[in-house]
Amino acid sequence: VKPYPSYSLSRDPEPRPHMGGTDGASTTQTSEQNWSVTAAKEVSFQIRLTSGVLDPGNQQLIEAGAAVGQDLQPRRLLVVDSRVADIYGEQIRAYFLAHGAKFRLLALPCTEAGKRIEAVQQIIDELDDFGIDRNRDPLIAIGGGVLMDIAGVAACLYRRGSPYVRVPTTLIGLVDAGIGSKTGVNHGPHKNRLGAYYPARVTLADRSFLATLDDRHIVNGLAEILKVALVRDVVLFELLETYGTDLIKTRFQDGGDDVGAAASQVLHRAIQGMLQELAPNLWEQDLERLMDYGHSFSPTLEMAALPQLLHGEAVSIDMALSTVLSLQRGLLTEGEVARIFAVSKKLALPVRHELIEPGLLSAALAETTRHRGGEQRLPLSTGIGKATFVNDVTIAELTSAGILLAGRWSHD
Ligand SMILES: NC(=O)c1ccc[n+]([C@@H]2O[C@H](COP(=O)([O-])OP(=O)(O)OC[C@H]3O[C@@H](n4cnc5c(N)ncnc54)[C@H](O)[C@@H]3O)[C@@H](O)[C@H]2O)c1
Repeated sequence: VKPYPSYSLSRDPEPRPHMGGTDGASTTQTSEQNWSVTAAKEVSFQIRLTSGVLDPGNQQLIEAGAAVGQDLQPRRLLVVDSRVADIYGEQIRAYFLAHGAKFRLLALPCTEAGKRIEAVQQIIDELDDFGIDRNRDPLIAIGGGVLMDIAGVAACLYRRGSPYVRVPTTLIGLVDAGIGSKTGVNHGPHKNRLGAYYPARVTLADRSFLATLDDRHIVNGLAEILKVALVRDVVLFELLETYGTDLIKTRFQDGGDDVGAAASQVLHRAIQGMLQELAPNLWEQDLERLMDYGHSFSPTLEMAALPQLLHGEAVSIDMALSTVLSLQRGLLTEGEVARIFAVSKKLALPVRHELIEPGLLSAALAETTRHRGGEQRLPLSTGIGKATFVNDVTIAELTSAGILLAGRWSHD
């Protein structure tokens, strides 16, 4: 056994580049027994706001994430939310049969409580049993945020990384969970404690799936859209102000009228805004993230209230509390706050919860501060469509915001 790598050693104490690899890697020998390796990995993935994904005449899904120009029969493990499989299973099967694919459909019951590593293992067992070529045969994840988060972790772990494709079927999936780089499952009492930054090669976002989603889950997704509006897009806010109620009624479907056109604009602006925030900070090196608005207290609240509160509902309550914090600090005017609460009422979003009390707020703030590298980095809105970050929120301030919120804005 040679004590050292085969390249020549230098006793020069100065760092010295040794080689550059095809993937941009370089190795530096920093002293006789220390080497330092640097590599940059290019990441590229696509989000397509599209339609007719399950139409057998549409090539997008069968081609998504697969190696181009292959003659071999496509193999696909389809991981599908079991409710989605009940509704769309026949269409999904017909699609892959029409494309001559060898496939297996794994229907996975999806709940927040079940978003855990055991579900990831179930997918991995299925991948192992079915067998895929890791360059040619992407796993296809069809479902809401829970399904896509679980499938993303499985794809990331399987053979140290296998390609996958996301087909979101909920509103949160379309505008949030399906478009970024994050995957994750809950662990112990902690939300998304396990996971990786591992984007799907392609996301096919088709709003026709929303036609079968119930009102509560449409509203749940509207919370994440309202978040984008509040911190960076006043036009999006105005669209919600004007069309919010109709968007729930029509489930974002295009009836060829102005509501359908507004639905297209809302989806487009929400995805665009989200990506403009996420893309420059894909690995979250910068911990000041506008998209964390509504996500400072909500992870603790959501897990404490499980299974009562949906993700977007917890986010909405957090945004309401943050709005009141802004009001107390003079960052928002009474008029702006009234407009914000009028929109959340129009969208039927909850704004308060009995668990919002000093004990939970204190635990949530401590957890968030730990998660954000020791600083609060709390996004607060400074006007509709604008925000800043603060680091000095106290428990007393939070408590009084909670009391004010419960007293003045109940939506009852
Ligand atoms: N990775 C990310 O960046 C990210 C971002 C936001 C949210 N999330 C995660 O997403 C999860 C929430 O996602 P969600 O709101 O989509 O919930 P979900 O995945 O639980 O889906 C909601 C419900 O709708 C059903 N369903 C899904 N599609 C349907 C359809 N087309 N018709 C009828 N029923 C359908 C599901 O069976 C489920 O009961 C949370 O766990 C959250 O942490 C992740």
